[in-house]
Amino acid sequence: MREFSQTELLIELEPVVAGELDRHHQMAKEWFPHEYVPWSEGRDYDGFLGGDAWVETDSKLPEEARISLIVNLLTEDNLPSYHYEIATAFGRDAAWGTWVHRWTAEEARHGTALRDYLTVTRAVDPVALERARMSHMEEGFTNSYEGVLHSLAYVSFQELATRISHRNTGRASGEPNCERLLARIAADENLHMLFYRNLLDAAFRLTPNQTMRAVTDVVTTFQMPGTGIEGFSRKAMTIANAGIYDLRLHLDDVLMPVLRQWAVFEMKDLDAEGEKAREELAGFLDRLEVSAARFVERRDARRARQAATS
Ligand SMILES: [Fe+2]
Ligand SMILES: [Fe+2]
Repeated sequence: MREFSQTELLIELEPVVAGELDRHHQMAKEWFPHEYVPWSEGRDYDGFLGGDAWVETDSKLPEEARISLIVNLLTEDNLPSYHYEIATAFGRDAAWGTWVHRWTAEEARHGTALRDYLTVTRAVDPVALERARMSHMEEGFTNSYEGVLHSLAYVSFQELATRISHRNTGRASGEPNCERLLARIAADENLHMLFYRNLLDAAFRLTPNQTMRAVTDVVTTFQMPGTGIEGFSRKAMTIANAGIYDLRLHLDDVLMPVLRQWAVFEMKDLDAEGEKAREELAGFLDRLEVSAARFVERRDARRARQAATS
């Protein structure tokens, strides 16, 4: 089977993009960030307005929800870099361009809504947040993958990961307004995932071996877009320990549902190269299963110890 060039892939998949765009427009629900923010809870800050500076006790949210909200917001904040990378990978011609801009407009709403909510409710330190935003955006974001198929595979998983992370952060907040907003954002992320997942599904039918290689490369090296955030490892650990996003969820709720949807392990038309990629993928998933089970075991043991001492 022959390999498709990047240009051929963009041309061959363009009608699928157009179809998915129609579907997206039908499914997407218009919503307004301002309706989700409890403005009456707000009051002036220090500085020009002479209000009160943020203090730790202002926040009503649990520590782990706060950390996760910050990570999620900083991730959303880096949109200009994602736009650049997506526009570079997919181009801005025909339906691809329409999608890139629509997607960017939807993503921009997430950062806006989250920041309004956090600032008004004093959920996090606004000075630390602004400094973190500056340093994170100054780092930028670089797509770790080359080419259309790798990029599509990455965003298929990443959008779903973001969905799960927003949804579980909302739950962890224990605050109904926060939960409602994050559920709303998560619904957007789900439609983004569907868009990319369906496109990659079409790519599998067009060029199965090439697509399998891309999926394997991405799954085995996947990193969340917020990896560059200062202190990310420590924050990610807190988020994992709280069960907001951990290895178990990554495997069961992100990787497997998407791979299952593509019927990766039932595919019959692979050549030797494609089969090799699939075997690599299967081996990686087996090892990940072991790590995920071990992680949950250790977390359960730690929780039991904490419960016994407190
Ligand atoms: Fe988003
Ligand atoms: Fe998204």
